Amino acid sequence: MKAAVLYHPGAPEELILEERPIPTPAEGQVLVKVKAFGLNRSELMTRKGYSPNVRFPRVLGIECVGEVEADPSGEYSKGQQVMALMGGMGRNFDGSYAQYTLLPRSLLHTFQSRLPWDTLGAIPEMFQTVHGSLNLALGIQKGETLLIRGGTSSVGMLATQLANKAGLTVLATTRNPRKEEALLVNGASHVLIDEGHLKEQVRAIVPEGVNKVLELVGTSTLKDSLECLRPGGTGCMSGMLSETWTVTDFAPMEFIPATVRLTIYDSGQITSPTEAFQDFIHQVEADQVKIPISQVFTFGQIVEAHRFMESNQGAGKIVILH
Ligand SMILES: NC(=O)c1ccc[n+]([C@@H]2O[C@H](COP(=O)([O-])OP(=O)(O)OC[C@H]3O[C@@H](n4cnc5c(N)ncnc54)[C@H](OP(=O)(O)O)[C@@H]3O)[C@@H](O)[C@H]2O)c1
Repeated sequence: MKAAVLYHPGAPEELILEERPIPTPAEGQVLVKVKAFGLNRSELMTRKGYSPNVRFPRVLGIECVGEVEADPSGEYSKGQQVMALMGGMGRNFDGSYAQYTLLPRSLLHTFQSRLPWDTLGAIPEMFQTVHGSLNLALGIQKGETLLIRGGTSSVGMLATQLANKAGLTVLATTRNPRKEEALLVNGASHVLIDEGHLKEQVRAIVPEGVNKVLELVGTSTLKDSLECLRPGGTGCMSGMLSETWTVTDFAPMEFIPATVRLTIYDSGQITSPTEAFQDFIHQVEADQVKIPISQVFTFGQIVEAHRFMESNQGAGKIVILH
């Protein structure tokens, strides 16, 4: 099989396409034929060497969709549609940047769908993060206002759609004015150009401040984001696009406005049940949600796809299709 192996952290070119034997599943493992997978910002960080626990060489890839190739337990049949994400995939053990991947049985979610594989490949991590951030962490309610900081990210684009669907008004940010149209078409009511300070822009639209904030840029903007909230509002940090995730000299009483709540979502800690993925797939099949795909690449274009992710040109999920 072909696999993209990272021997040393570095530039996209460090992802080396090579031939490897198809692995054999041991007790508790399932061999999955990978049909498609989404690229993730965390893989970009691992590729650059920012994941101290990852040992090399490693096949990256924290998620995939595909078909069961072999399950020694007999629980799954050959050809059954499955998706998998997180749980150490592409970090503690080899992940989805390959034609086949060996996965712990506990990581698999089965589903049924006739959607094309590239659409399905965009779903697992993007959906889980959006669902966890909006519903579990922020507890969004109809009629609320939501600021999404990092609006053109795949998580931001899907969050905009699902918040809209739930009856919220969305303010979405980008640093790039050329992406304004894409954000409006995706359902944002207001687009804010983010130069690091949003408080005045937000208050000009919602004078009392927004009800909720989804922070995807990280701690570099978190204080300003919390200042966009009204008293009693909630901010959830789910991303760190700026590659900053610590606050030096954190003084809670200076950092968090009085009565504002701060929370986080981490898909490594709280996962979605299998039914939630299947239910979401049904919504996509029924055209109630349009999966925000930025660009689809072939597996042979994995280096180019990483370069594209790093260029920040897109708006939505980058998918690799076998
Ligand atoms: N908490 C979790 O469980 C979880 C799960 C999945 C992902 N995440 C995190 O969520 C975030 C979004 O992930 P994604 O895969 O959806 O990202 P993505 O699609 O790769 O996001 C790309 C966009 O991010 C923006 N961006 C890049 N660098 C930035 C910077 N320095 N400052 C501000 N914006 C920047 C750019 O938008 P503009 O150029 O338009 O501004 C770019 O178009 C990431 O930080 C990721 O690690 C968290």
